[in-house]
Amino acid sequence: MIEYLNLTPLQPLTRHSHLARNAADQRFIVIQHPDYQAVLALYGGHLIHYSSQGSPLLWLSRSALLDGSRPIRGGVPLCWPWFGPSPERVGVGKPQHGFARTQIWTLDGISETAQSTLVHLCLGDNAASQALWPHAFALELTLEVGPELTLLLTTRNTGSTPFVYSGALHTYFQSQAPEAVQIQGLGNTYLDQLQQKRPTHEASFVLDKPVDRIYTEPASRIELDTGLARLQLLNHQADSVVVWNPWQAGAAAMADFDDQGWRTMICVESAITAPEGIQVAPDEEHSLGFTLRLVP
Ligand code: BG6
Repeated sequence: MIEYLNLTPLQPLTRHSHLARNAADQRFIVIQHPDYQAVLALYGGHLIHYSSQGSPLLWLSRSALLDGSRPIRGGVPLCWPWFGPSPERVGVGKPQHGFARTQIWTLDGISETAQSTLVHLCLGDNAASQALWPHAFALELTLEVGPELTLLLTTRNTGSTPFVYSGALHTYFQSQAPEAVQIQGLGNTYLDQLQQKRPTHEASFVLDKPVDRIYTEPASRIELDTGLARLQLLNHQADSVVVWNPWQAGAAAMADFDDQGWRTMICVESAITAPEGIQVAPDEEHSLGFTLRLVP
């Protein structure tokens, strides 16, 4: 997987990590530890690869663009400061899922212990962000990459008026096949995004058609069996979990979604989707996160 990205090392960062570039001159942090591996793009603060104990857990489209021209299809896109189409409070017609996934983040620090590698990335407001969303902010992404993976996205309001945000850690999981996917802990109630957000009840999750659902009453611990691995996804301050698979026709309509890829992916997203969002007062902060754990 890492080989296929064709990365050229630039400089060592810690004992098991280094900075690298690809042919399009995009920067990546590469972690290669005997027990875990990860690749993190500075474009979007986007984790594009994570494997634990030899099992690659994230899906990345074979036709994902890694040249900084559009959001990367796969891994863990950061949807922020809104989820989905831009809400009325922001103004309609702005980029879907916000702008954090299309900005270049800064590496703020990286360190390694015997158990894991800790990475801090940051993003502040700038002319491009202000044009889309007129607020001062400091966004921090903390990743603890080890046999378990923890991602924490912290939103700090550095301005003088409150703001509202929503978002998601839009994780694409690698699966064996649609019929192998089992998910528990979603709760039975979802808003069906394929039916104008119609509230819907379903006793258990079956992946046999396109799904785009906002589960509004999830447990804080989701159990996911991908057919390749059994995982626990522990969500932190998410108000919902979004489950998405575009299925064959949906995938074919996306240039960066390889045509067979829909069969081996499922998005299970730790999200803030409530219409009122999260209000953050000046000098206050709020974090959204998850921990991903392999079940032996
Ligand atoms: C999901 C949404 O979170 O992301 C879907 O629920 C959307 O509606 C999908 O299609 C992918 O979005 P994008 O902007 O990355 O193509």
